[in-house]
Amino acid sequence: MKVLAVLSQKGGVGKTTLATCLAVAAEQAGERVAIIDIDPQATASFWKDVRNQETPAVISVQPIRLGAMIKACADAGTDLVIIDGAAVARDVTFEATKHSDFVIVPTKTAVFDTMSMTHTLDVVREQKKPFAVVLTFVPPQGQETRDAIAAIEEL
Ligand SMILES: Nc1ncnc2c1ncn2[C@@H]1O[C@H](COP(=O)(O)OP(=O)(O)O)[C@@H](O)[C@H]1O
Ligand SMILES: [Mg+2]
Repeated sequence: MKVLAVLSQKGGVGKTTLATCLAVAAEQAGERVAIIDIDPQATASFWKDVRNQETPAVISVQPIRLGAMIKACADAGTDLVIIDGAAVARDVTFEATKHSDFVIVPTKTAVFDTMSMTHTLDVVREQKKPFAVVLTFVPPQGQETRDAIAAIEEL
């Protein structure tokens, strides 16, 4: 079983959108997928409630229960766990990263957004976990995206 986390301490950058879309895509590719929702706002869990589909499972847990829940998913024969992160404290990001094989950090392209992302990247890098930055809300034209890519590569 693999564990993928979508993390950013910034809210509204597309974490839940990416987590739920990746979960459905992985399921369509034949994986058995569970989403673990560690956001107190529980957006992924609400998505599940209105979606009217049995799978992927969405489990809403306190971050402290993450280890136990990941083990339960492994025991149940899950292929892929996707952790949908929360715009909260550093220790939650640390905990989610610790349990993950790979971390996706979404960010908008505006300079304030890429600046905020650096805290999340620090936590992920401290634990030497492989990660990717995904640009979201990308404007269709203009210099901003190129500037954002250059700034992120610099990081
Ligand atoms: N790539 C995107 N482009 C445009 N709108 C997006 C994109 N990703 C998410 N959104 C919208 O932005 C809002 C916040 O997204 P969400 O996934 O809930 O962010 P987060 O989980 O990081 O708080 C939602 O209304 C969502 O539909
Ligand atoms: Mg969210």
